Amino acid sequence: MKITVVGAGYVGLVTGACFAELGNQVWCVDSNPEKIALLNAAGMPIYEPGLKEMVARNRSEGRIHFTSDMGEAVDHGDVIFIAVGTPSQEDGSADLQHVLAVAGQIGRHLKSFKIVVNKSTVPVGTAYRVQTAIESELLKRGMRDNLFEVVSNPEFLKEGAAIDDFMRPDRIVIGLDTGDNYIPVHHKLEQLYASFNRHHARTIWMDVRSAELTKYAANAMLATRISFMNEIANLSDLLGADVDCVRRGIGADQRIGHGFLYAGTGYGGSCFPKDTRALIQTALDCGSQMKVVSAVEHVNDSQKTVLLHRVLQYFGNDLTGLKLAVWGLAFKPNTDDMREAPSRIIIKNLLLRGAHISAFDPVASHEAQMALALDLQDHPEALARLQIVDAAMQASDDADALLIVTEWKTFHHPDFEDLKARMRRPLILDGRNLYEPHVLEHLGIAYQGIGRRNALALQWSPEQVQEPISASPAVV
Ligand SMILES: NC(=O)c1ccc[n+]([C@@H]2O[C@H](COP(=O)([O-])OP(=O)(O)OC[C@H]3O[C@@H](n4cnc5c(N)ncnc54)[C@H](O)[C@@H]3O)[C@@H](O)[C@H]2O)c1
Repeated sequence: MKITVVGAGYVGLVTGACFAELGNQVWCVDSNPEKIALLNAAGMPIYEPGLKEMVARNRSEGRIHFTSDMGEAVDHGDVIFIAVGTPSQEDGSADLQHVLAVAGQIGRHLKSFKIVVNKSTVPVGTAYRVQTAIESELLKRGMRDNLFEVVSNPEFLKEGAAIDDFMRPDRIVIGLDTGDNYIPVHHKLEQLYASFNRHHARTIWMDVRSAELTKYAANAMLATRISFMNEIANLSDLLGADVDCVRRGIGADQRIGHGFLYAGTGYGGSCFPKDTRALIQTALDCGSQMKVVSAVEHVNDSQKTVLLHRVLQYFGNDLTGLKLAVWGLAFKPNTDDMREAPSRIIIKNLLLRGAHISAFDPVASHEAQMALALDLQDHPEALARLQIVDAAMQASDDADALLIVTEWKTFHHPDFEDLKARMRRPLILDGRNLYEPHVLEHLGIAYQGIGRRNALALQWSPEQVQEPISASPAVV
């Protein structure tokens, strides 16, 4: 099948590469010419395990092609996927300017019947706005307005495991409204996704509005589990309980299940924060309120500062002269994505309080340097105290504390004796609960996880920590 994917980012590139891998003829188009030039020079603008190899294979076999020419890209595909970004606007709602710009471009170039599939995460009603934008361009050219059908096909892949998620999805949600084109469009999309449904039917058909809402509901539910466990972890710290025991205890209940029950420094990335905000705003636009999701967001905002406050509780508000090591910068392992990564808030605030930071991430160094330069553009003197180094152990040299922010696999089993010998003070503040408190205690390393019963946490009494974590001092 001939497929066009508009937007060569995390979703678009994976979608294009995977459809090409299945034998389709794929054209990826992006408005960023540098990205297209890099892809055409066999480079890869993002880090996603296995993607570079998959793209190279399909390029050399002539199944994937990169262009910045929207006209030829629209001509090529019978099915055109929109996979451009939908970032947050000031009020939290999704910014649809890229999606609607693509719709306008499709309308300007469309000559024959196309199925326009929206893969971007968009609020309910966006498919209708895409349809209207295409129609108005067609009418300007005096063309029929039934030359296309807009379908919703939200994407559920996870960065870091995107290829596997795309190739072996839990489900494929397709929103298609009844109308003149229903049967041929249904048939075409069934053919396109046939190889995913061979073992058992994974496609869930529904109307467009329900498909659009399904994506937000899924992300809000997952974010809810994270914030819920973070609250239980913070309570565990106060009560001297171990959240990891609680996690296993509740996860064994089949109604709950084990997934997404890990406490940590809060969720980040390009989806959960913006999608929860957009859902809250969608409800407000309808005169309603998402009370649970609003609380989820609130808990997450404060959870992103938990490690920061632990440092301040330990060392006081003035961190001048301290050297802190940070392991992990990307918002999660196996990606270089720094969008809304908790590390940005933690590092920025530590630097602003005078600390020197030596940080390491296996793949996100470049992205992190750019993101933090942006966050600290008004504080060059603070930024100058940040060093992003090439090895985890190097980061911990002479450190007064080590903060674990992202749970990369390579951090799971460090040589603790070596680590202890390198650090000025053997203190680990673990935002991802990678280690067993009693093991580190035994090794003479002071350790504090999130909600893990351990020496540091037990020294606190509820009276000492009664002040809400986000209340002081100001976090920026
Ligand atoms: N990243 C994820 O894990 C993930 C998962 C599921 C869904 N989503 C959703 O998918 C969408 C895309 O996310 P992403 O992370 O891939 O974004 P991204 O920022 O990585 O990529 C978007 C790409 O679109 C391009 N673009 C913007 N306007 C364009 C235009 N007019 N014409 C052509 N190209 C244009 C940009 O240059 C960029 O390369 C978002 O709505 C997101 O919420 C993302």
